[in-house]
Formats: sequence, structure tokens, C-alpha cells
Amino acid sequence: MTKPVIELKNVSYRYPDGTAALTDCSLALVRGSRTAVLGSNGAGKTTLFLHLNGLLHPAQGKLLFDSAPFDYSRAGLRSLRSKVGLVFQNPDSQLFSACVREDVSFGPMNMGLAETIVRQRVEDALEAVDLLDSADKPVHNLSYGQKKRVCIAGVLAMQPELLLLDEPMAGLDTSMQEHLTGILDELHSAGMTIIIATHDLDFVYSWADEAVVLQQGRLLAGGSPTEVFGRADVQHELGGEPFVAEIARSLSLLGIDLRDKEYIPRSTRDLLKALSMHSTKQEKCI
Ligand SMILES: Nc1ncnc2c1ncn2[C@@H]1O[C@H](COP(=O)(O)OP(=O)(O)O)[C@@H](O)[C@H]1O
Ligand SMILES: [Mg+2]
Repeated sequence: MTKPVIELKNVSYRYPDGTAALTDCSLALVRGSRTAVLGSNGAGKTTLFLHLNGLLHPAQGKLLFDSAPFDYSRAGLRSLRSKVGLVFQNPDSQLFSACVREDVSFGPMNMGLAETIVRQRVEDALEAVDLLDSADKPVHNLSYGQKKRVCIAGVLAMQPELLLLDEPMAGLDTSMQEHLTGILDELHSAGMTIIIATHDLDFVYSWADEAVVLQQGRLLAGGSPTEVFGRADVQHELGGEPFVAEIARSLSLLGIDLRDKEYIPRSTRDLLKALSMHSTKQEKCI
């Protein structure tokens, strides 16, 4: 679980207009992990993702994949992008074909795979996002949530080792968010490394193994969500902490400590379970 798949070493990047979007960022992404990238608008999350799949080159510093420096030749980039799939925030920046199946086929076809393999991969990817029934629909007739799932299928059809999702929950209703979380859980169980940029602190707390916080292009914090969200400077930067962490902390001030060394509730469901265990323990003591 600890081997980094991608490492950034002192990466800095400026856009052509002079905006410093990343400054001296060093970071290791662990194979098989679920990593969340947090930070206010403009903190550098998207710029970081564009570096991770080689769409942007660092002005200073370097990136490594499996300990080897990124190869920015045409063949090197093609190979990198087949391993590191990026789902853009806005589905309309990613979708360009008339129909769903055609769009999802584009990536694996571009990889030069045989037609039968492409067909199978497209079926599997559409099934993973529960869109097989819409395979022949025109993309422009789909809802926003469906379009997002087509984008994810398009990346999955390339069978990447890493999946980068830029604010995937933005614009989705609660049930679609739950559906997407279920898809991500399945992909993670199947061994995929998943990295998500998001503003949703509660989601990160319950889902991620690692949290990374960017502040004006610099890395402010990185580590387990409990560690990261426990820091006062992170709470200040993100404008708060996850709801469950706040409740657990407030209860501990009232003498109800639900946290112990092995178990820290990180979702509402865990919190309720810990509360009921706590009250059962209290009853036994009386
Ligand atoms: N194409 C661009 N040209 C110039 N500046 C940009 C461009 N894209 C982003 N920026 C700037 O780079 C910084 C980081 O942006 P971005 O990576 O999009 O942050 P985030 O995804 O965290 O909102 C911001 O100051 C943003 O305004
Ligand atoms: Mg962004």
C-alpha cells in the first residue's frame, strides 16, 4: 500500500500570463489509495491534475511514474495517458462524439486495440457506470449526471491504473452522488488508484485514505484525513472541518469521547454507531 505510483518533486508551474499556479509542490501518490485533493477555487487542483497526466509540463521540478521520470515524447505521453485517466470537471469539455458508444470507444480505439477488444471494453465501461441502456443515445440528449458518467466510462475503457476526477460531484444531486460513490468504491476494490479534487469535506472524511490540501499553489498539508482535518491551519484554509469530526470533538468536550485509538467515526453512520455503543456501555456501568 505504500509504494508511490506518481511522485512530484518540487514542481512549479506558471501559466503563460504569469500566474503562478503551482509552487514547489512535492507529493507522493500511493498505489491503490483513495486520495482527495482539497483547496479553495484557484488553489491549483486542476493545474495539478493536468500535470499528472502530462497535459502540462512543470516549469521546474519533475514528475515520476513508478520511479521513472515522465517521458514527454509523443509515445511516452500516449503510454502515460493510457495509465492515468483524467475526467474533466465539465463533461462538455470532454465529450465530442454524437453518440455515447462512439464517445466511449474513442480512447481505446486511439490506443490501437483490435475492434473486438474495443467493443468489449466499451461494454464493460458502460456497464460499470450503469449506462449500457443508453449506449446508442445521442450525447446531447443526456442529463448532466449521465454525461459525467459517459466521461468516466470513456476513461475506464482505457483501463487506466489511476483515475483522476476533477470535482466529480459538482452539479450532481444527492442520489447521483451516492451512485458515483458506489462506482468509485467498486473501482477501488478492483485495485484502481483514485484521486479526486473536491470541496466536499464530509465526503473526503468518510472516503479518502489520503488528503492533500493546496493553498495558492503550494502544498499546505498531506496525510490521513484525520491528521489533516485536525490541523488548525487546514480548518482555517478550508473554512471548517467535516461535520462528523466537529460533532465528535464537541461531544468529547462534554465528556462523551467516541474516538479511541483504533476507531474514529468518519461518517454519519459510524458516528451513530459509536453513539449507540457508547450509550450501551454507559447503561452497563449504571
Ligand atoms: N489557462 C490559464 N491561464 C492563466 N491562469 C490560469 C489558467 N488556468 C488557471 N489559471 C490560474 O491558475 C491558478 C490555479 O487554477 P486552478 O488549477 O484552475 O485551480 P483550482 O482547480 O484549484 O480551482 C488560479 O489562479 C487560476 O486563475
Ligand atoms: Mg479546478
